[in-house]
Amino acid sequence: MSKKTPFNAYVSAVGHYFPEKVITNKHFESYLDTTDDWIRTRTGISERRYLEKDQPTSYAAVRAARMILEKRGISAKEIDLIIITTVTPDMFYPSTAARVQNELGAKCWGFDLSAACSGFIFGLNTAAQFIENGTCKKVLLIGADKMSSIANMEDRNTCVLFGDGAAGFLLEPTEDKTIGVMDALLHMDGSGGEFLCQPGGGSLNPPTHETVDKKMHFVHQEGKVVFREAVKGMADISVEIMEKNGLTSEDVAFLVPHQANLRIIQATADRMGVSLDKVMININKYGNTTSCTIPSCISEHFYEGKVKKGDNLILSSFGAGFTWGSILLKWAI
Ligand code: UT7
Repeated sequence: MSKKTPFNAYVSAVGHYFPEKVITNKHFESYLDTTDDWIRTRTGISERRYLEKDQPTSYAAVRAARMILEKRGISAKEIDLIIITTVTPDMFYPSTAARVQNELGAKCWGFDLSAACSGFIFGLNTAAQFIENGTCKKVLLIGADKMSSIANMEDRNTCVLFGDGAAGFLLEPTEDKTIGVMDALLHMDGSGGEFLCQPGGGSLNPPTHETVDKKMHFVHQEGKVVFREAVKGMADISVEIMEKNGLTSEDVAFLVPHQANLRIIQATADRMGVSLDKVMININKYGNTTSCTIPSCISEHFYEGKVKKGDNLILSSFGAGFTWGSILLKWAI
């Protein structure tokens, strides 16, 4: 499917950053009523990484950005636009994008984009449009989250699931309409909001002693409901984008699913008829890093030499909102 725009947006460089501090399942076993076996078999997670207390989301984002710039061999001053997708901004304002811009020494404009676990997919479609219509030549898109800052470490239902990290792309224009961001299907259904949210701290429930005592500033998730919706949402959208673009499972080099639960990933791959060796997975090492899961999978696989020019990648996600979507990305480097 060719777009009716002057350019396609292609990924010219990719990078990621994970903190050094490793938190194994044994850590949670030591003080919660949980086991390594439960966490691994129910989620696929063995360990995750945490930023230090004094390292905000931008700390990870800047390091992923530096890797991207170094790999592309350009200076930060050449970036036209910075988009940070996150649900754990350093603060409500200024945006994390502004803080990243300042640390990088970039001279461009930018903004944060909030779509929870679908943040990177929504961000990629947004970033691509600035390139496709000729407005920007270099867009830096980073998915970054410090989930450890909003996880209730006393709640076994949620704290074991999440980790911290950042990863992203540099997007640039090409006149070759057969590569880059080829298609996007994005959805939102706000009626699912209550099932996965951070209820306190915003204008609905401004921070008070009471909201803190009630732990409203932490992740709230009704896991079973989200699980059911995620299996359906991610599998359906992945099959739909394949069919819409006339692709069979043979044509797909990799499914790149959001990493929330290995069982959701397996169900999605099954529905697509894609074997698990063609599914990018890093949930075992990092847990659910929200905006960072999809780009970090791609970055790690790319630098391991597993992603080749011309590969069809199907990026799919489901998360809070509810938000979900899928992007067909034809790899170009
Ligand atoms: O990234 C955004 C989208 N998020 C997702 O897609 C996450 C979707 N949900 C899930 O991945 C799963 O629902 C969870 C991993 C969160 C939970 O797995 P589950 O198989 O759905 O477990 P459950 O919530 O049905 O809980 C089963 C039991 C419960 O005990 P009872 O009520 O049956 O006695 C839980 O309290 O497992 C218990 N449980 C735990 N047990 C040991 C929940 N968490 C733990 C734990 N260790 N860490």
